[in-house]
Amino acid sequence: MNPQQLSVEQRIFQLREEIAKHNYAYYVLDNPVISDAQYDELYRQLLELERNHPELVTADSPTQRVGDQLHSGFQSVTHAVPMYSLENAFSQEDLESFEARILERVTLNAIDYAAEPKMDGLAINLRYEGGVLKQATTRGDGTTGEDVTHNVRTIQSIPLKLLGKEWPQVLEVRGEVFMSKRTFEQLNQSQLAKGDKVFANPRNAAAGTLRQLDPKIVAKRRLSFYVYGWGQISDDWPQPSHYDQTMAHFKAWGLPTNPEAQVVTGKAGMQDYYDALLQKRSELPYEIDGIVYKVNQIALHAKLGFTSKFPRWAIARKFPAEEVWTQLLAIDVQVGRTGALTPVARLQPVAVGGVIVSNATLHNMDEIRRKDVQIGDTVIVRRAGDVIPEVVGPVLSRRPDGTRLFEMPTHCPECGSEVIKEHDKAVYRCSGGLFCPAQRKRALQHFVSRKAFDIQGLGDKLIDQLAERDWVKHPDDLFRLTLEQLAGLERMAEKSAKNVIDAIEAAKETTLARFIFALGIPEVGEVTAKQLAQHFRELDALMQADSEQLIAVPDVGDVVADNIATFFKQPHNQEVIRGLLEAGVHWPQPQIQTVNADSPFAGKVVVLTGTLQQRDRNEAKALLEAAGAKVTGSVSAKTDYVIAGEKAGSKLTKAESLGIPVLSEQQWLEMMGENNG
Ligand code: IVH
Repeated sequence: MNPQQLSVEQRIFQLREEIAKHNYAYYVLDNPVISDAQYDELYRQLLELERNHPELVTADSPTQRVGDQLHSGFQSVTHAVPMYSLENAFSQEDLESFEARILERVTLNAIDYAAEPKMDGLAINLRYEGGVLKQATTRGDGTTGEDVTHNVRTIQSIPLKLLGKEWPQVLEVRGEVFMSKRTFEQLNQSQLAKGDKVFANPRNAAAGTLRQLDPKIVAKRRLSFYVYGWGQISDDWPQPSHYDQTMAHFKAWGLPTNPEAQVVTGKAGMQDYYDALLQKRSELPYEIDGIVYKVNQIALHAKLGFTSKFPRWAIARKFPAEEVWTQLLAIDVQVGRTGALTPVARLQPVAVGGVIVSNATLHNMDEIRRKDVQIGDTVIVRRAGDVIPEVVGPVLSRRPDGTRLFEMPTHCPECGSEVIKEHDKAVYRCSGGLFCPAQRKRALQHFVSRKAFDIQGLGDKLIDQLAERDWVKHPDDLFRLTLEQLAGLERMAEKSAKNVIDAIEAAKETTLARFIFALGIPEVGEVTAKQLAQHFRELDALMQADSEQLIAVPDVGDVVADNIATFFKQPHNQEVIRGLLEAGVHWPQPQIQTVNADSPFAGKVVVLTGTLQQRDRNEAKALLEAAGAKVTGSVSAKTDYVIAGEKAGSKLTKAESLGIPVLSEQQWLEMMGENNG
């Protein structure tokens, strides 16, 4: 039933049942079914209803309990001083009412708070007697915890003996055991490699580790610790006066304290600290879920005292959750500027990292399979800082019947062209490069670029305007633009419009190689385009070539051959090519260039190095290949010539040391019969 239609009493009852169920799943079964943030939200709703309706509060309400169920397997220990938990604040207003409640009980102008990160780990009590670590216990239900001494002794940063001498005979300190983000990543990778269960987050990993029965495993997993408070302290130590000074003592005894801790004043101070730490959150080497503010003057603690659950002198301001669970409703596909297809998760909208998220990236097909995400799953969604929300993985314990595997579409959702999987890569790409609206701007930029149609004056900004107005959908539309259209655009003077139109007109006369290059076929660069033009000499022949015929061209392997054949097979691409020819694009038939068997480079292995002045590197390579040479990247005993341009470095030195003939650019061009550019 919709919560709005319930009476307050029914809703309270429902919340209690739900919370009890989640407590059991979390603490007893070790198998939570909702995220912490979602649990906190249920708890907060219940608290609020009970606060407004105190007559409905019963002793069995989860809000009336100091703690939760115990785990079994370790010896229980009753705490000398109970371990309380903290009230949560979800907003600056909550902090302000916390301060207002303090000011009702004590008269002060301003309150100083010790502020520090709320570590996302688990609370531990460390008991030192005579300066020696005697016992370590978990918080448990707040009254009774578990003895985890043998495991805690493996945590390197926890002193087994306190430094100095001035410590009390009995000293209990309390703090958080946690796992750094880095250790967590490494642990999960090694769990994966071993085929063991991966942990959902560093806190679960830390908790799971402390509960290990074998301390050797605990030692390997490198847990960390920060002290944030104390329990029993014997009378031989003067009563501490200020929280921050007490922490300084602990630090001097060798106990690790959080370096982010700071004393702040009043509600403005609390707000500033919150803003600053939230900014810093993603850079911290460990996960935090908020900030704890404690009244710094310890004399006030006794005056303020405790409610049944919490101290009145401390509060936890929660950060927006970075990880939540929600339903994966569908997986759609987005086509990027380069034609790459990205799967996008459509989610049941959920608040994460402070914003409502309804889409998240799934990266690519390999990731979906590796993470085993299926449509209909409950998934963990993460959004840290300004990072794009991503699906971390499914919650397998909640997988319903009838989830569906995702399949990449065989045709582009934007233009209907065939989708091809890039060889050996996780990328799927739309093959409608010239036609696909998602790839329009990029295709046009490439088409007009210097080594393609070389249309000057058609910069990226102008292309954006033409594409956005739908005047140019495909490159052939460029040749139908009118002077009036261009002159009517923002910031376009009549004179520059005329220049652009003239440049477009002049570009109609081109070469077959430039034309092929301009089509933007994946992995067909300038040199390959030249080889294709040389080999086929007619556009039609190239368009009709199958993969086998294409592989016969120098420089063309299986992958490129497939790209070319698939590209020309697309009716949409054919249509655009026809449009270009109809618009008057033409070229002279390429001269037949036979490999000159008399060339001094025929059959030779050549290395190019340094900067050439008269030919660019690709041209030089193409010329050498046409002369029958094999151009390689590194100098070895098999190299016949090294052609050295300016600033040649290690390759030149190596050639000299191996005694390989070195040619200057000029010498090379003369030998080719190509001097003077
Ligand atoms: S002070 C009397 N300081 O938060 C209250 N707690 O919700 C003592 N926690 O069980 C707690 N970082 O596990 C305090 N800097 C910090 C903390 C911190 C994490 C945890 C702790 C405690 C829970 C209370």
